[in-house]
Amino acid sequence: MPATVVVGTQWGDEGKGKFTDLVAKEMHMVVRYQGGHNAGHTIVVDDNSFALQLIPSGVLYDHITPVIGNGVVIDPQVLIDEMDMLEARGVDTSRIKVSGNAHLIFPYHQLLDALHERYLGKNQLGTTKRGIGPAYADKAMRVGIRVQDLLDPKIFAQKLDVVLAQTNKVLAKVYNRLPVDADEIREKYLELCETRLKPHIADTIGLVHDALDAGQHVLFEGAQATFLDLDYGTYPFVTSSNPTAGGACTGAGVGPRDIDRVMGIAKAYVTRVGAGPFPTELHDATGDHLVDVGHEYGTNTGRRRRTGWFDTVMLRYAARTNSLSEIALTKLDVLDGLDEIKVCVAYEHEGTRVEHYPYHQSVLHQVTPIYETLPGWQTPIEQVTERSDLPPAARDYVEFIERKVGVPVSLVGVGPGRDQFVHFGV
Ligand code: GDP
Ligand code: IMO
Ligand code: MG
Repeated sequence: MPATVVVGTQWGDEGKGKFTDLVAKEMHMVVRYQGGHNAGHTIVVDDNSFALQLIPSGVLYDHITPVIGNGVVIDPQVLIDEMDMLEARGVDTSRIKVSGNAHLIFPYHQLLDALHERYLGKNQLGTTKRGIGPAYADKAMRVGIRVQDLLDPKIFAQKLDVVLAQTNKVLAKVYNRLPVDADEIREKYLELCETRLKPHIADTIGLVHDALDAGQHVLFEGAQATFLDLDYGTYPFVTSSNPTAGGACTGAGVGPRDIDRVMGIAKAYVTRVGAGPFPTELHDATGDHLVDVGHEYGTNTGRRRRTGWFDTVMLRYAARTNSLSEIALTKLDVLDGLDEIKVCVAYEHEGTRVEHYPYHQSVLHQVTPIYETLPGWQTPIEQVTERSDLPPAARDYVEFIERKVGVPVSLVGVGPGRDQFVHFGV
């Protein structure tokens, strides 16, 4: 299976970093295809924890070429800081390749992100305020500036003047702010390129295809998740890119026929950060318990994550929209010790049972989950390495999810560590 996509199936933070790292062992190249430093992907190796925002989670292996694809939005200072952090911890970052077609995030994007959130007031989305939405908006408006523009100072200066002529008017007239200084930004970005970024800038589409043509194994690493997708998610409470598997095509430069395997990462319960509907959300002691045991605080922003029961209606939709071939179920260990565990199998809306994820957003806001209750298990599973050593109730829980979603579970996470997983099937 030369080309695999790893995709989040809920609202993010499912454990994509850990499972990308795990699968990357057998890969040659790992490509991030969308998002930016709104992502926080954690990998735990022995006592070392790495929180990556932009750099693909395969970077820890010497044999991997880590690639940042054209669909990503890049704050160069963040990328350089992340490379420095990895180098200081003994990780070689010289192999990192950055697409010349990727768009840049500028300080005015971050400023606009924060101002727009404030402007929305009680309707705010709870973004990470990293400038992601405004950077993708400029890309769609065709005033975005790409990594390759940094290689031509004249073009870069021209493009910056064009975008700032308008952006500074918006800052002054809509938000009553001082204009941003083009010279300061130009000098800083050109210097970062000249001193640090230049050796990494590459034709990543060519590199990916050369690897595939040579029979090498390529892993496409998604950030965020299906229900944060601009098209399939709980719009407007979404991010501004396409994390779903199709995003790997547009964000890395491959066609659908190049992809053989799509691994959906699903947490054994559900979490969400930021605003938006969440049918199975818990507002009780069990919800707090999941936050405490699962350490459900943002890798990136430190925000407390909202928690709830596993939702198979969502997963069936994620299975369809990503054409999932398998599921990696993470954090099963967090459910240790619960007397009983609920799983949402359908929704109820105005007296009707709803089996499919509703296409109308208002319905999603109004549904009541229909649960089936399964028995919990009392023995800790963090040391388990074989499927047969899982407590029967834990196995039944995973098999129940497989049946309700209609997709096999290949791997089960039993702890944050690189080796804490069980081969379940496939
Ligand atoms: P990502 O954004 O999808 O990569 O996920 P995050 O890294 O933001 O959040 C997942 C958190 O769960 C991280 O702290 C991981 O170290 C941790 N984690 C991943 N898999 C497991 C697991 O199977 N069990 C436990 N207990 N923690 C896990
Ligand atoms: P990983 O890759 C969880 C959420 C934000 C907000 C919404 C829009 O670690 O799973 P944005 O800054 O993207 O405009 O914010 O999306 N969000 C995430 N939630 N995990 C992430 O990334 C996220 N990236 C963005 O909280 O609700
Ligand atoms: Mg995360």
